[in-house]
Amino acid sequence: MESCRPHLLPLIVALLGFLSSCVNPLTSRVSFPIGTPGRHLTRFSSPDVGNTTTLLLSDDGDTLYVGGRDAVLALDVSLKDAIVLRRKLDWSPSEKDLDQCSMKGKKMTDCPNFIRVLQFLNATHIYACGTFAFSPRCIYINSETLTVSLKPDEGRGRCPYDPYQRNTAITVDGELYTGTVADYRGNWPLISRHLSEGARVDLKLDDSLGWLEDPTFISSTFIPDEGKIYFFFSEVGREYDFIDKFIVSRVSQICTSDVGGQRTLQRRWTTFAKAQLLCQADGELPYNVIQDIDSLPPTEGAPADGTLFYGIFTSQWSVNSGQSAVCSFRLSDIRSAFSGNYKVLNRDTLQWSTQVQEKVANPGECGLHNASDNALRFVKENFLADDSVRSVGRSLTLVSAEHIYSHLSVQRVQAANNVDYTVLFLLTESGYLHKVVLLQSGAHIVEEVQVFEKPQPVKNLKLSIPKGVIYVGTSEGVLRLPTANCSFYWTCAQCVLARDPFCGWDPSLRACVTVSSAHANLGQDIESGSVEKVCKSVALTHRAQFGPNNLPAGELVSVSLNEVVRLQCPAASRLSRQSWERPNSRLSSDLYLHMEDSSLSFVATPATLGHYLCLSTENGFQQTMAIYHVRQKSSPLPQTPTSQGWPQKHPWPTEWQARPKRTESKQAEPTLTSGDAQTTTGQLGRNFTLWMVKRAPKEAAFRDGEPLMSGSSPCYLKELVVVSVLLVLCLSLLLTILLYGAKQRWRSRTAPQAPGTPCRDSDRRTPVEHEALRGNPCQSKRNGHIQHGGQASGVLCNGALTGSNGHLPNTPI
Ligand SMILES: *[C@@H]1O[C@H](CO)[C@@H](O)[C@H](O)[C@H]1NC(C)=O
Ligand SMILES: *[C@@H]1O[C@H](CO)[C@@H](O)[C@H](O)[C@H]1NC(C)=O
Ligand SMILES: *[C@@H]1O[C@H](CO)[C@@H](O)[C@H](O)[C@H]1NC(C)=O
Ligand SMILES: *[C@@H]1O[C@H](CO)[C@@H](O)[C@H](O)[C@H]1NC(C)=O
Repeated sequence: MESCRPHLLPLIVALLGFLSSCVNPLTSRVSFPIGTPGRHLTRFSSPDVGNTTTLLLSDDGDTLYVGGRDAVLALDVSLKDAIVLRRKLDWSPSEKDLDQCSMKGKKMTDCPNFIRVLQFLNATHIYACGTFAFSPRCIYINSETLTVSLKPDEGRGRCPYDPYQRNTAITVDGELYTGTVADYRGNWPLISRHLSEGARVDLKLDDSLGWLEDPTFISSTFIPDEGKIYFFFSEVGREYDFIDKFIVSRVSQICTSDVGGQRTLQRRWTTFAKAQLLCQADGELPYNVIQDIDSLPPTEGAPADGTLFYGIFTSQWSVNSGQSAVCSFRLSDIRSAFSGNYKVLNRDTLQWSTQVQEKVANPGECGLHNASDNALRFVKENFLADDSVRSVGRSLTLVSAEHIYSHLSVQRVQAANNVDYTVLFLLTESGYLHKVVLLQSGAHIVEEVQVFEKPQPVKNLKLSIPKGVIYVGTSEGVLRLPTANCSFYWTCAQCVLARDPFCGWDPSLRACVTVSSAHANLGQDIESGSVEKVCKSVALTHRAQFGPNNLPAGELVSVSLNEVVRLQCPAASRLSRQSWERPNSRLSSDLYLHMEDSSLSFVATPATLGHYLCLSTENGFQQTMAIYHVRQKSSPLPQTPTSQGWPQKHPWPTEWQARPKRTESKQAEPTLTSGDAQTTTGQLGRNFTLWMVKRAPKEAAFRDGEPLMSGSSPCYLKELVVVSVLLVLCLSLLLTILLYGAKQRWRSRTAPQAPGTPCRDSDRRTPVEHEALRGNPCQSKRNGHIQHGGQASGVLCNGALTGSNGHLPNTPI
């Protein structure tokens, strides 16, 4: 019996993975590989500029300051078509510094000065810090002339020594707040304040109690209303001491008014507190490692409490490797965690517990400078909030099974009907920028734009909302792209199906335009993307467009009898489903082969000559993508079926409006006139999709969306679900019995645990729990079976976990 147990988990996982491959709908609707015309990138690169780690945008949005390797640049980004170098400040270590760096055993390529802090200090100056050959240094830079004023400061505690260590920095009222490691070896993490003057003293963490545990700093945000700065990082969660090195994500706070204590906590924070950030759906393993976070301020006039934070999280466990999740957190939830109870550390056992104790002071409260030593000792020892900050709705905003997101920016966009939508820009490790709109029904990826080809060791995102552009910094340089290109959508249907809150259909201009107050009555339906509702004039089916008797000639395909014909069916988007029709006849599967790529293949016989319509259905809207007229060749010259003669122009429904030169088509382009558009079909369709189809080698991504939008899915989902549910039920029953048996034996060996006492003994876990926590069984099968499954597989692994295991790793004990 025992020996079969390990086989069950993988089996279930494999099964659900299989299932989930039919389920996960998170596919970007359209994709713009690098160099496609629809999404133009403006690029700045220069051979002597690299590792652009920090981006800083001037208030007017016209100058972008860039911290790179051995240099700070001021880029003029006010021009529409170019990014121009305005000034450059070279700031590199001397030969002597470099020699010393390499003598210390560091790689020469890590010894340059990597700029890691770049912040406005005041109206005229920027403060910059760099790793400077493993001997960090900071300078004051005149933001206009980009020259150095004053002599350099020592950079210890402000900037890491090692360029691969992450850090965060923010300036408030001329003071610099940083989170970084403060020693050469990288063992001494610190959150500290610098550049304080007068009665305000520089502050740092008290390091006697382990306020931080091997953290990776991610970001920091100032909330002016509260006078607080929040730091986001991940670290080892000591309160979970039953798992080795369980990583937790944290938010910590300090008050900018803090000046330290008078005797106790002198020159130390009196307002430091931290809490766990939980990005976890109920019953699943948490996505526990924060990667990036951005804040979304409340709508104008609303209280700061409405501030939201959107963060990217990955998982420490291999079950979820290759996946990432986005979670959002409310500032009000963070506040209430900090104003609640705190965990207590038992100094003798080094164990954390939740004890109701008399509150001598409120940890995390601002203004404790004059508090008693007793109160300060209390806040010094009580810095870990008992409550975790859970994500909004205790759920994940989105999970991507295919992409590891590394950076994000968030923006609120007012749609045409004045409803606000949250738009996320998510950068993937592989170099795509996803634009995601959060709908009531979930996340919808409007588009993906490829911004770099090779994975980049350094990346950075900077959103300029007033200018409607986003900057991406990489090891190779800086590039800019507009947050939307509405004119890419050339029909009302396309404009509506995109569900891009930036874009709406202007019926008078007959164009998809950027939503602004200048355009009234734009057609848009972000929530459901219903073409029918918005594009009233659109005839919804091809039948209405072309009755059987007024079918246009279409693309002519001349064939010889018995020749194999293959007709291409371009996709309207990656979410559309392609199908074929012949007027007045059925496509019997004896004669026709529906290919993987939606093309149609058949042998030319007198019965198969005639008209063919390639249709694309998306979100309930059907459009004709191509019409072919297959007829017998008159001359016996050999001719490939795909070559075509271009017939005379036909009047075309306006929905098919012309879009001049969508791609670099090798074929002769028919003349296209916009307005009352006239065009030939096949060409139009092909033009439109060439760039999408080009990605074909990695077909999986392209095919993903195909079954999703369809009512009658070709993957026999229903049957599969029924069979699988039955199988899962049987297996769970079996598993439960096994585990119950195991538990009974296990119980008899160990004394019952008093509630509330932390469990230190990892040996008490059953082998299954061990395995499950390590994630191995899930993973081993996952690699083999799950192509683009993801979430559901996680659920399953996790589900099995919950069933087998009394406490999840996220349950503090
Ligand atoms: C927007 O799309 C249109 C149509 O594909 C293209 O011609 C234009 O260059 C694009 N503009 C930008 C800024 O990407
Ligand atoms: C700087 O960029 C180079 C080239 O892309 C890369 O190999 C290197 O790892 C980067 N260095 C750091 C510290 O990120
Ligand atoms: C900004 O800070 C720099 C460096 O401390 C100082 O020299 C300069 O006078 C300050 N400028 C203003 C306008 O306060
Ligand atoms: C502490 O108390 C002294 C004297 O009562 C007062 O002058 C000072 O402003 C107080 N400091 C803070 C930070 O409240």
